[in-house]
Amino acid sequence: MEHPSFFLPLLLLTIIAFIAVAGQPYNNITLSSFLTTTTAGSRNLSWLSPSGNFAFGFLPLPTNSSLFLLAIWFANLPNTTTLVWTPNRERPLPPNSSVILTSDDGQLSLRDPSGTEVWSPGAPEAAYAAMLDSGDFVLAASDSSVLWNSFSDPTDTILPTQTLSAGTEIVAKLSDDDFSKGRFKLRMQADGNLVFYQIAVPTGYQYSPYWAANSLMANSRLVFNVSGSIDLISPNGSVLSTLTSATTKSSSEYYHRGTLDYDGVFRHYVYPKLTAVAGGTAGWLLMDFKPVDICQNLITTLGSGACGFNSYCSYDMKQMVTCQCPVGYSWVDPNRTYMGCKPNFTLPSCISRVPSEGFQMVRIEKLDFPNDNYDQFNVMNEVDCEQQCLDDCFCAASIYDGISNCWKKKFPFSNGRKGNYISRVTFIKVSNDNNLPSSPLTKKRTWILPDSIVLTSSIVLNFIIVSTTLIYFHVSKRKQSHQLNDNVLGPNLKAFTYKELEEATKGFSEELGRGACGTVYTGYLCPELTGTPDLAVKKLHDIHPDIDKEFTNEVKSIGQTHHKNLVRLLGYCNQDTKRLVVYEYMSKGSLASYLFSRSRPPWEQRVKIMLGIARGLRYLHEECSTQIIHCDIKPQNVLLDENFNPRVSDFGLAKLLKTDQTKTNTGIRGTKGYVAPEWFRNSMISAKVDVYSFGVIVMEILFCRRNVEKEMEEEKALLNFWVSDCYNDGRIDALVEGDEEAMADMGRVKRFLMVALWCVQEEPALRPTMGQVTQMLEGAMAIKPVPPSL
Ligand SMILES: *[C@@H]1O[C@H](CO)[C@@H](O)[C@H](O)[C@H]1NC(C)=O
Ligand SMILES: *[C@@H]1O[C@H](CO)[C@@H](O)[C@H](O)[C@H]1NC(C)=O
Ligand SMILES: *[C@@H]1O[C@H](CO)[C@@H](O)[C@H](O)[C@H]1NC(C)=O
Ligand SMILES: *[C@@H]1O[C@H](CO)[C@@H](O)[C@H](O)[C@H]1NC(C)=O
Ligand SMILES: *[C@@H]1O[C@H](CO)[C@@H](O)[C@H](O)[C@H]1NC(C)=O
Ligand SMILES: *[C@@H]1O[C@H](CO)[C@@H](O)[C@H](O)[C@H]1NC(C)=O
Ligand SMILES: *[C@@H]1O[C@H](CO)[C@@H](O)[C@H](O)[C@H]1NC(C)=O
Ligand SMILES: *[C@@H]1O[C@H](CO)[C@@H](O)[C@H](O)[C@H]1NC(C)=O
Ligand SMILES: *[C@@H]1O[C@H](CO)[C@@H](O)[C@H](O)[C@H]1NC(C)=O
Repeated sequence: MEHPSFFLPLLLLTIIAFIAVAGQPYNNITLSSFLTTTTAGSRNLSWLSPSGNFAFGFLPLPTNSSLFLLAIWFANLPNTTTLVWTPNRERPLPPNSSVILTSDDGQLSLRDPSGTEVWSPGAPEAAYAAMLDSGDFVLAASDSSVLWNSFSDPTDTILPTQTLSAGTEIVAKLSDDDFSKGRFKLRMQADGNLVFYQIAVPTGYQYSPYWAANSLMANSRLVFNVSGSIDLISPNGSVLSTLTSATTKSSSEYYHRGTLDYDGVFRHYVYPKLTAVAGGTAGWLLMDFKPVDICQNLITTLGSGACGFNSYCSYDMKQMVTCQCPVGYSWVDPNRTYMGCKPNFTLPSCISRVPSEGFQMVRIEKLDFPNDNYDQFNVMNEVDCEQQCLDDCFCAASIYDGISNCWKKKFPFSNGRKGNYISRVTFIKVSNDNNLPSSPLTKKRTWILPDSIVLTSSIVLNFIIVSTTLIYFHVSKRKQSHQLNDNVLGPNLKAFTYKELEEATKGFSEELGRGACGTVYTGYLCPELTGTPDLAVKKLHDIHPDIDKEFTNEVKSIGQTHHKNLVRLLGYCNQDTKRLVVYEYMSKGSLASYLFSRSRPPWEQRVKIMLGIARGLRYLHEECSTQIIHCDIKPQNVLLDENFNPRVSDFGLAKLLKTDQTKTNTGIRGTKGYVAPEWFRNSMISAKVDVYSFGVIVMEILFCRRNVEKEMEEEKALLNFWVSDCYNDGRIDALVEGDEEAMADMGRVKRFLMVALWCVQEEPALRPTMGQVTQMLEGAMAIKPVPPSL
């Protein structure tokens, strides 16, 4: 033993495994035993576990019966073969291959027909091997200590009593009948985070994570408890979080397995042993799975997303994720749908003088391809969005958000998803030769209003056209000329007249809210009809009087920001001394009212909101052409859209306020409000002021209370001090008291808490950037231990 560092882990493994072998009945597989692929599949010619539950031997591929995998499988199931482990998934072997436990050096050796070794676990000196009833195949020394076991080298499945230790991963198969390494993996990282990654096929490039459970403790592990739950366990054995919850299906009556399926979802399945033995057809029953909706969770910046290019993802939570092709498109390879869809017509080319000739647009509701737009503009209705794409020879599809945004897409589309949670509409350009249901464009032009108000009376219709035209005067212009008006349809914002906004807000009659720099009123696209509000019109006061041109420039630069976690600016008014900004209307109000209402919002919802705010701020700080520091992050300035997605509002306005405005106002809010300490020190103001305020919000979201509660006992009154004290005293439980959902997810609570504590550090340089914050919250970046106490 000249490598002591190698010796120690081996010893540990040996002790653990020794118990496993010694505690279970087993049949010795003696040296020089072997199996060959010509005997494959015959139950009596594989090596069985004592009860016959599991078999070790060769299985033919479902797609080619003359190629074989060395495998462990559930041997008792009637007409399904469920493989749990294989070492040669990338290299199935032809007939006359063999696996042998060599007599000379006690090695397990997989060999091709010529006798060349293809795989070996590299654990020599075994005295015997055994297929255990747990599903573990072990190589043991003569004193029964384990030299190697299949549980330590998993494929895509874990079984009860199995552990994924730090640094190990499981990789999904490529498709239902292709066992080679697929597009998803689940990795138990050494930093204690359990992370799902999408990976590229065949290069193996690792995309960003799409789900994670975090322990914050190095050397944590994932354990499949015999009692049926799959948990993240700390080095000292305490449960940190649960990947799939416990079932009542005992392992004496049911077979269990946890598999990362080829669609990227980790599922816990059971199979009743009784029906298995009796030859019934119950099949595997689904118990629990993660992530809850991969179609929503997985957005990649590179690659195709959860489904292949041009394909879209939908998930009903009971079956496998479904990928579909849009109308006019078909599978590149119907047997390998992950390869995506191809148009079954020739795409429009810019050689043709009339781009729209021979093509039409097909409207698909609740379908979105969120990334990779090549152009965006504001439109007033979806017909414009549709026509713009049809007239553009580069455009293969356009997407309308139902409010005012239209995005254009080139080929291929990625990250496609469809579901009721999506409010966008997609228009796909297809050839006229496809005999397809036509969309509004190809018929007579119709007016489509937000929320698809269905109108039967033509009088009402005319009325709407008139009133809509009043506000969006350019619509009529556009109809007459039938030509593009760049000013209107380009990225520019709409410049409203004061009168238009007065009408839209019914004379500024419905006040929505009041803030430091203005009052917000509800606005309607068609004020004459009582419908749902569409606009939030903010009348600014205390604006520099001599800011005229600057105002327009500033507002236009705000108009260039586009992120799903930011409230969209639709237009502005700069007339005489009147300054107004017009935003899209957010139907679920502010985070403040959501968070501090009487009943506590669901934990997952709060986590989603927290991550969304972080992404919105990261965008403002790091992804805009010019950095935007918000300066006034607080729950009142975070609004919620109809799906409770957080949207940061009021950004970019700080610069317009009178110079000392920000300071006096923030001063009022007290020393330990949302305002970073440097405001009071006259030192440099950087983006780190927003990081500070974000840290405060995270604490408020975690514990559903305001940062200052004067009524509370002194030690609890100021949230960040109380949190810091509790953290340092190891009393995190006290903070989530009464919140069962959070208590069941302490791993994440701790992680979010640590991030928050780093954010609210006095010293700006100690605070992370929003980019780092986002990654730490998502679990993609390790968090420095022990934030200094406040
Ligand atoms: C072993 O398998 C062969 C071929 O599948 C079969 O004919 C034979 O009956 C089996 N023997 C036993 C003891 O099960
Ligand atoms: C099955 O695999 C063998 C060996 O690689 C190959 O020769 C044969 O063509 C394959 N058969 C089919 C149907 O793909
Ligand atoms: C399993 O086999 C039985 C009997 O051979 C058959 O009736 C049943 O349909 C099969 N089930 C499945 C799921 O293939
Ligand atoms: C496999 O081995 C047997 C016996 O050694 C031999 O008869 C047979 O031809 C071999 N098959 C192949 C495909 O090599
Ligand atoms: C298995 O083989 C080992 C080594 O030859 C021996 O010590 C042990 O008693 C055997 N166990 C059983 C259950 O046969
Ligand atoms: C399995 O779960 C039970 C009940 O939740 C618990 O008591 C036991 O300690 C767990 N076992 C392991 C190995 O974590
Ligand atoms: C395990 O560690 C955690 C965190 O360090 C601690 O809270 C817990 O009390 C420890 N449990 C045991 C059984 O030592
Ligand atoms: C084109 O796609 C449509 C619908 O997706 C399909 O019905 C049609 O058969 C396809 N045409 C060709 C030539 O593949
Ligand atoms: C798809 O699989 C079926 C059956 O396995 C086969 O007949 C067909 O040729 C395959 N299609 C393609 C395009 O490979």
